[in-house]
Amino acid sequence: MNNTELVAFLHAYPSYPTTHIIDDLRATEYARLDVGEHVYLDYTGGGLYAETQVRRHHKLLSEHVFGNPHSSNPTSLAATQLVQHAREYVLKFFNANPDEYDVIFAQNASGALKLVGESYPFGKGGHYLLTFDNHNSVNGIREFAHARGAEVTYIPVALPDMRVDASSLDDYFARGQKGAHNLFAFPAQSNFSGVQHPLEWIEKAHVAGWDVLLDAAAFAPTNYLDLGKVKPDFVPLSFYKMFGYPTGVGALIARKEALGKLHRPWFAGGTITVASVQEDKYYLAEGHTAFEDGTPDYLNIPAVEIGLKHIESIGYDVIHTRVQCLTGWLLDNLTRMKHSTGEPLVRLYGPTTTEARGGSVSANFYDKDGKAIDHRFIESEANKVNISLRTGCFCNPGAGEVALGLSRVELDVCFTQPGHEQRLSVDDFRLCINGKNSGAVRVSVGLVTNFNDVQAFLSFARGLLG
Ligand SMILES: Cc1ncc(COP(=O)(O)O)c(C=O)c1O
Repeated sequence: MNNTELVAFLHAYPSYPTTHIIDDLRATEYARLDVGEHVYLDYTGGGLYAETQVRRHHKLLSEHVFGNPHSSNPTSLAATQLVQHAREYVLKFFNANPDEYDVIFAQNASGALKLVGESYPFGKGGHYLLTFDNHNSVNGIREFAHARGAEVTYIPVALPDMRVDASSLDDYFARGQKGAHNLFAFPAQSNFSGVQHPLEWIEKAHVAGWDVLLDAAAFAPTNYLDLGKVKPDFVPLSFYKMFGYPTGVGALIARKEALGKLHRPWFAGGTITVASVQEDKYYLAEGHTAFEDGTPDYLNIPAVEIGLKHIESIGYDVIHTRVQCLTGWLLDNLTRMKHSTGEPLVRLYGPTTTEARGGSVSANFYDKDGKAIDHRFIESEANKVNISLRTGCFCNPGAGEVALGLSRVELDVCFTQPGHEQRLSVDDFRLCINGKNSGAVRVSVGLVTNFNDVQAFLSFARGLLG
């Protein structure tokens, strides 16, 4: 390691050493990263688990017998108890009052979002308002809104910071009709630009008569979401993004009052009290039970509690400080890199300081003549040196369109091409936008990223200057 750079880093980010507990953890719990010489920089894609999380879970499974929780036999009751305990722990972790909030286990954040989309009482006069900057699983809710005659409105974000013009918000909120069902959705942290949109919007939207869906999937891994302080109605998240294991379990944390507004479009095993075939009638169960279709993932759900305790044992303050320092160093260095011609190596999409932003950094790379380097080439070069990063649009087309300068007119042309009424492949799309970037490169730092990881990426980037 270049010691001069380490000294410069510590000088610029003096709080980094206060996070040394993570270096100790990395050596003991995440040794596989360094043994395999991995430079893992896709924490927004998926978090990493500590070895003890898996061991604890394995021990639990090997020492007990758990049966399907939909019964009252001993093994079933044991599973029910564990699932219930995990549910209560999720509430406690997010400081959510159990009288006010409920937890619905889902397959992932997308599954949680679909529960809201398909059940929200969209209708004529109603409105679905959302930021350009949203994951596709939030965008997808618009299809339910359209189908039921609600209006759909997008709030733009603007370069270079990719934030919303806050002064425009009141005008958007004023578009909600009184007495109709209006839902406003935004991410607490962008999975594209890393922007952390203000949580104060939640209260503002409530006052204006909107229900609020706060997508916390990219925020919760490294920032504390305190549901004692902010009161969104629906909070989807994926646990593997927070602590790596288990995959296949997410949650919708929902205000009970808002949950009462949702109408499920069907019933399933586990969601009813009584259903009759001859009577063609069913009675939905109360609260979370009505939303958990079929058998819950009762062997994996207990691993959620183990993961949450792991985060607590480190503390969000430490995690957050660590991520801020490393993100800052990444931004400082990337923005300074220039070719001999004076052309910058990267164009960053999003804030270039750590103010109100998280650890996702998206950019495109340019050659000495200012010509864009294909993001797929960057990925293939990074693969050669064992750097795991992500390229594309990260399932966030709205942010992508703004970042890459794809206009409505250009998109209209691509989406109305003859012969492409039903299908448009990524290659067709690339061809259509003709030479413009169709994606970006994203590196994201997280729980156990260290200075060496960031340096490895910066050195890789410097290699592109040649
Ligand atoms: C902000 C955000 N929301 C939602 C999701 C969807 O998460 P999942 O793929 O686990 O359903 C992601 C995944 O990257 C995300 O970053």
